[in-house]
Amino acid sequence: MSEDRDEAADATPSALETDRELVGIVAVADNGVIGRDGDMPWHIPDDLQHFKEATMDHPVVMGRVTYEGILETLGEPLPGRTTVVVTSRDLETPDNAVIANGLEEAVDRADTAARECHDDADRIFIAGGATVYEGFLPALDRLVVTEVHDEPDGDTFFPGWERASWTEASRDERDGFAFVEYVRER
Ligand SMILES: NC(=O)c1ccc[n+]([C@@H]2O[C@H](COP(=O)([O-])OP(=O)(O)OC[C@H]3O[C@@H](n4cnc5c(N)ncnc54)[C@H](OP(=O)(O)O)[C@@H]3O)[C@@H](O)[C@H]2O)c1
Repeated sequence: MSEDRDEAADATPSALETDRELVGIVAVADNGVIGRDGDMPWHIPDDLQHFKEATMDHPVVMGRVTYEGILETLGEPLPGRTTVVVTSRDLETPDNAVIANGLEEAVDRADTAARECHDDADRIFIAGGATVYEGFLPALDRLVVTEVHDEPDGDTFFPGWERASWTEASRDERDGFAFVEYVRER
């Protein structure tokens, strides 16, 4: 994960309040790339499975562009989860997706979904893309990162983050990538 981009976003105190753990989940290449042409620049089935297992039966917050990419691929929002779509638009959504017109509203909607649809799940996942990661970064408690050991071309990057504020809690090296968890120092 690249550490040399602007780290200001990670330094701002957060107004995003919830009793649940706010968990960023991302796959990021060594050069910071997370996306290209509205999609991910790699296909790693183990990572898709890892994402599914981590997020199943939880609220998952994402930006409108990422949401539309999932609709294009799956034909529906992520099954078994409530998708909270951050957008300024008035989108129609199926039953397991809701829209939020800003980040605070997204946390409120995710809290409601956790309580009413997911057995009071204790985590809310923040699943990108770049604009949504950037907005939530100061509020995240944990980062679940798939570090992709490659430097692909891309047009979307994970925002800079202040590594000194985070502790590596676990690392599972695989062939060409690693599953890593970082916990914010409080
Ligand atoms: N590698 C990974 O783990 C990963 C994860 C997720 C996404 N991605 C990639 O990231 C790329 C998409 O990222 P992106 O940054 O371009 O788009 P995005 O964050 O998915 O969506 C951006 C949109 O979200 C809405 N939005 C964001 N912040 C908002 C706010 N505070 N208030 C209201 N609306 C807000 C706006 O929608 P409106 O325009 O409708 O107002 C904005 O245009 C794709 O390539 C995708 O594949 C990669």
